[in-house]
This record gives sequence, C-alpha cells and structure tokens, in this order.
Amino acid sequence: WLVLGAAALIGYLLGSIPFGLLVTRAGGAEDPRTIGSGNIGATNVLRTGRKELAIITLLLDAAKGAVAVVLVGHVWPDPMPPSLPAIVAGAFAFLGHVYPVWLRFQGGKGVATFLGIALALSWPCGLAFALVWLAAFAITRHSSVGGMTAAIATPVAAAIINRSDLTLTFLLLALIVLWKHRANVERLLDGTEPRFGSKG
Ligand code: G3P
Repeated sequence: WLVLGAAALIGYLLGSIPFGLLVTRAGGAEDPRTIGSGNIGATNVLRTGRKELAIITLLLDAAKGAVAVVLVGHVWPDPMPPSLPAIVAGAFAFLGHVYPVWLRFQGGKGVATFLGIALALSWPCGLAFALVWLAAFAITRHSSVGGMTAAIATPVAAAIINRSDLTLTFLLLALIVLWKHRANVERLLDGTEPRFGSKG
C-alpha cells in the first residue's frame, strides 16, 4: 500500500503541472482560460493563434503522463509490465491533470495526458488512441469528438489484447474524459461546437 500511495503521489504531482498555462505564459500568449472553451489543453491553446505553443502543450501534457508511468514502472517493475504501481501512477497523473490542486481542481479535459499514459502503459493501446483520434478528427474536424472517441476506443483496445487491469483503468479514464466534455457534447448537439479548418 505504501508503494501504491507513493506511485499515486508521484503520478498526481507530475500530472498536475498545468503546462497549458505555463507554456502560454512563457510564450507571452493569452491565458487560455479567458478564451475559447476556457480549457487549458492544447486545443484551446491553439485558439490563442500560437500553433507552436499548442504543439508544445500537447507534447508536454502527454509527456508528463508517460514520464509518470515509465518512472514508477522503473522503480517498481513487474515481469509482465506494466506493473500495478505504474498503472496507478498513470491513473493519478491523469487525475492530477484533470483535477489539479494548484488550480482549485479546475484542470484540463485529459486527452493529451491520456495519450501519453496509454502509450507508456501499452503502446498498442496508445496507437489505437492516436489513430482513432486522427480518424474521428479527420471526419468531423472537432477536436472534442476526436478526444472522446479515442478515449472510448482505448479500453476496447486493452480488452482486445487481454489486459483486464488496463481495460478497467482506461475505462475509468474514458468516463472522466466524457464527463469533462459535457459542455462540448451540449455544443455538438445544438451545432455550436467550433470546427477546425473553418474557424476554430
Ligand atoms: O482535448 C480537449 C479537446 O477534446 C476539446 O477542447 O477546448 O475544444 O473544449 P476544447
């Protein structure tokens, strides 16, 4: 339990680093909380008009999830990786991103961090996430649809490769991703969700 607690803490602390805010601040861009959807994720950083800052945010938000998993998996390995502490670290990195104590628990929607965690826990699941995101986005031009579909596809991918521990973990993360996108779902239903390519 001590090991799992330490894994959770390491994961949470890494995940709660709000890169969207740090990157926009460092780049002298607008605070993403004051524009677009108000979210601190890469999609909304893109709405500042600074593409490079959005890409950096995406990479860092994904990297912190992956680092949490790899780091903890290295300290507490398992003959059949990923180890339980690594899975716990990943799940808590996700929670740290979505509910960071530093921002009064008002964090991001978890899509980029989910990608990083999935890639580090099981590259086929991460690949499934990325491919489904790209396909759904290519079809709809909605980043939110990409994120939600990819999140749902990932536990399915874990079930296909027969990892019930990952299936359960990814399912929980997917439910939180859907919950965090509830305003997007409302906008999608009434046709006001912005599309990229037209004017995001
Ligand atoms: O990753 C977040 C994305 O799915 C939606 O972002 O800013 O359009 O709500 P946003």
